[in-house]
Amino acid sequence: MAFIDRVMNGFFVIKGLGLYLRPGVWLGFLKNPSQFFANYLSLTKWISQNNNRNVMNDFLVPTRVRGVRNEYYKYLVDKHDLQNNAVTYLEFGVYKGDSMRWWIDVNNNESSFFGGFDTFEGLPESWGPYAKGAMKADMPDIKDERLLFIKGLFQDTLYKFIEENKSRLQQKLIINLDADLFSATIFVLSTLAPFLKKDDIIMFDEFNVPNHEYYAFKIFTESFPIKLEMIAARLNYYHVAFKVL
Ligand SMILES: C[S@@+](CC[C@H](N)C(=O)[O-])C[C@H]1O[C@@H](n2cnc3c(N)ncnc32)[C@H](O)[C@@H]1O
Repeated sequence: MAFIDRVMNGFFVIKGLGLYLRPGVWLGFLKNPSQFFANYLSLTKWISQNNNRNVMNDFLVPTRVRGVRNEYYKYLVDKHDLQNNAVTYLEFGVYKGDSMRWWIDVNNNESSFFGGFDTFEGLPESWGPYAKGAMKADMPDIKDERLLFIKGLFQDTLYKFIEENKSRLQQKLIINLDADLFSATIFVLSTLAPFLKKDDIIMFDEFNVPNHEYYAFKIFTESFPIKLEMIAARLNYYHVAFKVL
């Protein structure tokens, strides 16, 4: 047997043994911390390569200032002309409707459309200290004819919404990803990928959480032929917005 074949065979045996011993069963507790560490390293590298100072970017702030999210939204509205133009604003994770209310109030174009997706039964799985079912809230009482709430898991509602709203997806899209979870965020990004066009805007509300929104961003940008450019970052990359190139 040629040397290379013997080496390959050695790897084959070791890999087989590794599968047979099922380390995932008795070392499973290492999965989350090791995934966290890998994604954390990736996030810090991404920040060092994308720390654009020509846009709103407060990195590094020493304290978590409350209430800056609206300031960051306002910056995006002013810079990208989002007040008077017709937009399709899709929010994934509505909860009590704080951000939905803000966007509806600021955009005055009657052809705009606002879609708010949520289970309204709380998180479908745990997220850090928040247990499954946390953030349960009634559908917010927001009166605006341009608004539609879509109740249910994104994974159950988004395909039908797309089928029924193709023309709305042709308008400039503003996508607000605020579901916190990796599963929800990667699902929405992948499902909306065919509808993304130049200058559409995607906001991540908790971008710097390594195993969740950042991980979804990483998988998405590595797997889909879509280029995103950072257009604002706030609170040490907690809130981050991109435009589609
Ligand atoms: C952080 S809250 C949203 C906060 C809101 N944007 C605001 O401005 O206050 C996250 C929400 O995402 C929802 N959510 C998470 N994953 C979901 C999924 N897969 N399908 C539907 N809703 C989901 C939860 O029910 C929860 O209400």
